[in-house]
Amino acid sequence: MSGSRAAIVQPSDEAIARAADALADGRLVAFPTETVYGLGGNADDPAAVRAIFAAKGRPADHPVIVHVHDAAMLDRWASSVPASARALAGALWPGPLTLIVRKAASVDPLITGGQDSVGVRVPSHPVAQRLLRAFHERGGRGVAAPSANRFGHVSPTCADHVADDLGDSVALIIDGGPCDIGLESTIVACLDDEPTLLRPGGVPVEAITRVLGRPPRAAHAGAPRASGTLAAHYATRTQAMLVQPAALRAEIAQLDERDERVAVLARTVVRPAGFTGAWIGAAFEPARYAHELYANLRALDRENADVIVIEAVPDAPEWSAVRDRLMRATHADDDRT
Ligand code: TXA
Ligand code: MG
Repeated sequence: MSGSRAAIVQPSDEAIARAADALADGRLVAFPTETVYGLGGNADDPAAVRAIFAAKGRPADHPVIVHVHDAAMLDRWASSVPASARALAGALWPGPLTLIVRKAASVDPLITGGQDSVGVRVPSHPVAQRLLRAFHERGGRGVAAPSANRFGHVSPTCADHVADDLGDSVALIIDGGPCDIGLESTIVACLDDEPTLLRPGGVPVEAITRVLGRPPRAAHAGAPRASGTLAAHYATRTQAMLVQPAALRAEIAQLDERDERVAVLARTVVRPAGFTGAWIGAAFEPARYAHELYANLRALDRENADVIVIEAVPDAPEWSAVRDRLMRATHADDDRT
């Protein structure tokens, strides 16, 4: 990548102070969270929010999540907080959960993509917490932060991923090491009596169900738009396809016969003798699989293969967030905008 690449810095107190100053100044800072890295800007500064959209190449009608250090800040962003949101925040924040609530009048429409709701999240990552608190001490109300990747691309789970995608457009990248969870937050919309799951993610749906006393409603036609719910999202540049375990060897053999260069992310299937393409053996267990997924996809994307073949994962609840991302990453008709 050309131009001035952003500095990647370790999260010393001095670096956190510098980053909080940069945010208060209207500049952008990439920072680690427990899910993925975020590209942060002052949510009350329209120019900073516009710069986030420009850096990502993200269309203006896609809302961004506001990150705050403490659940008490929810009331500063919401016009009303239903009991369901209050309960979820109380039980699961700080953590990988985003709540969509009715926006306060003061929230810039740039943040909400023109909708009357706003997404709020309290991340648990200690570096994110320190940064958000330092920003708050400087009078900040919240940090708008989408995942720190180009629009539609695989989310970043380490500082180098951010530098690869956005190194030219961010003042500072705070290095917090690899993100624990590796998939984005779970998004629940609490806009009426029926909390709605908009995106499976870091908080298992069962945990949401336990707090609510019933399962959240599945996303439906009237649900608020979420760009992470576009069919083709979280995508590699190389075309990727999802193949059931039992069909994997035959599919690879067929592609090989057609002289297609294949890169594989397998989980249970072992590498066939004589296969010369790139092959990553993914973790057996869902949390580890998720933790490594985006780094694995980026690694396979660098192989210059014609196609990435991904072994489908089990159809069990603990795999739902991974399954969701794999479906989107391998969607055949690319509708990224
Ligand atoms: O784990 C995460 O949520 C990460 C880290 C950085 O916090 N952030 C993240 O942001 O994934 P982003 O912008 O890449 O995805 C946020 C999703 C988008 O699909 C967006 O459309 C949706 O949240 N969203 C945000 N505000 C919304 C709103 N008011 N209504 C509906 N969807 C909303
Ligand atoms: Mg994203």
